Amino acid sequence: MQQHIWKIEWDDSLSVGIPEIDADHKQFIVLVNRLNKAIIDRMELSEIKNRLQSILEDAVRHFEHEEGLFRQWNYHDVDAHARKHAEIVSTLRTIMGRVGSDTLMPQWIEVGLEIKDTLITHISTEDMKYAQFYRNSPELHRQ
Ligand SMILES: [Fe+2]
Ligand SMILES: [Fe+2]
Repeated sequence: MQQHIWKIEWDDSLSVGIPEIDADHKQFIVLVNRLNKAIIDRMELSEIKNRLQSILEDAVRHFEHEEGLFRQWNYHDVDAHARKHAEIVSTLRTIMGRVGSDTLMPQWIEVGLEIKDTLITHISTEDMKYAQFYRNSPELHRQ
């Protein structure tokens, strides 16, 4: 199978061990791959913008989902984690604002890769911190 630098494949190293969150993260990956496919295939700018907008909306929903769980768990790191979420949303909004009518493809490819890296880095560093907390808190597993 041909591998693409822009394409993310789910694998178990990305799992936080909480099925409802893994489902969100898998959906993220689908949306980011869809955005990058649109960029690579040079689809209409309006289609690229729609796909970017879906990522932004999905990110906001997912971050609320995680932060809701953190509050249920009394997770100690909720504020710092929520700040990271806010930074990502602000980055996505900045990108949305920047796109305008810009049709320069080399820049678009960078934008797509930046979004992919930002989200994957967040899952594999920040989200893994609460994954470890959850794993070590068996009392939460019955909730
Ligand atoms: Fe997450
Ligand atoms: Fe997160």
